[in-house]
Amino acid sequence: MNYNAQLDKALQNLHDEDRYRTFIDIERERGNFPHAVWNKPDGSKQPVTVWCGNDYLGMGQHPVVLDAMKDALDATGAGSGGTRNISGTTVYHKRLEAELADWHQKEAALVFSSAYIANDATLSTLPKLFPGLIIYSDELNHASMIEGIRRNGGAKRVFRHNDVEHLRALLAADDPAAPKLIAFESIYSMDGDFGPIREICDLADEFNALTYIDEVHAVGMYGERGAGVAERDGLLARLDIVNGTLGKAVGVFGGYIAASAKMCDAVRSYAPGFIFTTSIPPTVAAGAAASIAHLKSDTALRARHQTQAQILKLRLKGLGLPIIDHGSHIVPLIVGNPKHTKLMSDMLLETYDIYVQPINYPTVPRGTERLRFTPSPVHGPREMDGLVQGLDELWSHCALNRAELAG
Ligand SMILES: Cc1ncc(COP(=O)(O)O)c(C=O)c1O
Repeated sequence: MNYNAQLDKALQNLHDEDRYRTFIDIERERGNFPHAVWNKPDGSKQPVTVWCGNDYLGMGQHPVVLDAMKDALDATGAGSGGTRNISGTTVYHKRLEAELADWHQKEAALVFSSAYIANDATLSTLPKLFPGLIIYSDELNHASMIEGIRRNGGAKRVFRHNDVEHLRALLAADDPAAPKLIAFESIYSMDGDFGPIREICDLADEFNALTYIDEVHAVGMYGERGAGVAERDGLLARLDIVNGTLGKAVGVFGGYIAASAKMCDAVRSYAPGFIFTTSIPPTVAAGAAASIAHLKSDTALRARHQTQAQILKLRLKGLGLPIIDHGSHIVPLIVGNPKHTKLMSDMLLETYDIYVQPINYPTVPRGTERLRFTPSPVHGPREMDGLVQGLDELWSHCALNRAELAG
């Protein structure tokens, strides 16, 4: 095989479909979020405002987090030096897991390198623990869940997005004695819609199934102590396994599950993605633990976050722009075509100093390509005005040029 020619072909396919990904090289400015510097391909620099970050609450620059990380660095050095089993479990990892278990009101928690790995490792391991397990998976579940379920070799059923009647029919069609698990999300990150947690828990009770919820886009932001939508809705006790990230609203890095002590013990003992990899650096664990401890009581920060999202949605709706609004903090603006989406993103960046990455297939279905805005408590009125003005001008411009672009 001509390997280079094959790589050229694979890359050309992405260009042909207008979904080749270009990474924008930015340097975030601590103390000055959401401002950053864009290192342009020609070597020059341009100040930008980041509107697509998932550091939803600005915790990545919070002094409580930075101080904890600096203290851990000074006290214990850079890396953990091992897997969890072989010298890589430290007081920082244990503290973080205790903080997480308390957050989700579970007996235990397990920290992984990321929420992707936590989903993949846990879901691919569960059939080893429960032979014959059937996993019922929402069709819009994140790639990490799909991958874990796909690799596990067990049976799977995919239910239509948020369709509890479809889920019921699938559960009812299977052997009542078979072990079952329902895997879903509390907030689907691309549309910002909520999963029907209560109804799914009711079905799980009825059909004796376990529940697995991904709260990656909710932890830190919903609930009295920020543990997510399940906490907000008083449903934490009804969920068997909660998955979350430490890299978005928590502002640091890593992922985890929280569950019963027995479930965590079994996953810890059987999941290759937990066992055969170096544990996260103590600095990271310390920063995440400090962030969560802070988030448990900072209800004002959560309120400001929601207010910012509401203001942005109101203003964009006022301009008549086609945004999706399911009442969450995520603000997707549907453009509906990869060329236009890329063009708008490029023009916002170059002309208006606004950075928002285009979101294309396969992250979202074809024809629903979009710009996904993530307003946060660190976006002030000045940043909001700049975005609204830029979008207003560009939307009219793109509408005028649609015919030209289509050609
Ligand atoms: C729903 C969902 N689950 C899991 C992940 C993975 O999280 P992490 O970035 O911690 O790997 C993501 C990442 O964006 C996500 O959107």
